[in-house]
Amino acid sequence: MNEPVRVQKDFKNAPLCLSGKGVTKIFGFGDKKTVAVDHVDFEFHEGEFVSIVGESGSGKTTLSKMLLGLSNATEGEIFFQGKPRDISSGHKKKEYWKGIQAIFQDPFSSFNTFQKIDTVLLDCINMRGGKGLSREEKFNMMSEACQFVNLEFKELTNKYPFELSGGQMQRLMIARIFLLKPKILLADEPTSMVDACSRATILDMLLNLRDEIGMTVIFITHDIGLAYYISDTVYIMEHGKFVEYGKADEVILHPNAAYTKRLISDVPKIHEAWDLSTVDLKQEA
Ligand SMILES: Nc1ncnc2c1ncn2[C@@H]1O[C@H](COP(=O)(O)OP(=O)(O)OP(=O)(O)O)[C@@H](O)[C@H]1O
Ligand SMILES: [Mg+2]
Repeated sequence: MNEPVRVQKDFKNAPLCLSGKGVTKIFGFGDKKTVAVDHVDFEFHEGEFVSIVGESGSGKTTLSKMLLGLSNATEGEIFFQGKPRDISSGHKKKEYWKGIQAIFQDPFSSFNTFQKIDTVLLDCINMRGGKGLSREEKFNMMSEACQFVNLEFKELTNKYPFELSGGQMQRLMIARIFLLKPKILLADEPTSMVDACSRATILDMLLNLRDEIGMTVIFITHDIGLAYYISDTVYIMEHGKFVEYGKADEVILHPNAAYTKRLISDVPKIHEAWDLSTVDLKQEA
């Protein structure tokens, strides 16, 4: 049987990075109420690659927005590095956002159209306290970041983000993360816009970056095959609840929840190379 790309580490005893207890989000009231996220508990550790897998409408983006501090939980509490997260003031929010970065489905929405690429990258260096560095040092850092994602910095200077291809833009997004070195990266289906080859490259880059700077990656996807391939840990989300979670191997090769089994049986042929044949799908049909 094919192995995942790397050994899945056990993070149970690693320091906590982001965790939550009873986190809930309800939209609307009365008859029109939607419980988008329903009392979820989670523990994401330093350096852990976590995937949150679920079908459309299961609550993944709603949860991400709460994790990012862009929307408040209706109930429950989120903890950052083991302590209750406090983003009650603008200043505290800004501090929190230094530690967490997001990449979204559409790379075109991630950049200010009127900012040249040099400025985009320079801003990252400045945000990390590099304002006082020499021009040469800044140039070297930008070149290194571009090199990391196989882009030539010299070819990008003086260009605007809209002059790049979708794939180049995705890579530029990862170059930004390389410079920002956040504690947490939240990636909501970052590969959906690109072809299979760029997709593999981008995921590979995310894994390398995780190894290089030890950040926690929270990867949101519909694709359980992909989650198996890249994650240490997976959380399976159905109707706003985590129906199952654990080490990627354990959950995907020995699923307990009927929903997980169904997601696995829906995996398109392309993932059969990873051989999920040890999974007993018939038991729970
Ligand atoms: N602002 C909102 N107001 C009301 N309902 C909302 C709002 N945002 C999300 N919902 C509802 O919450 C539920 C979860 O939506 P969410 O966007 O979190 O799902 P998702 O898992 O990210 O789906 P997808 O995979 O399609 O991106 C859905 O029923 C959705 O209609
Ligand atoms: Mg979504």
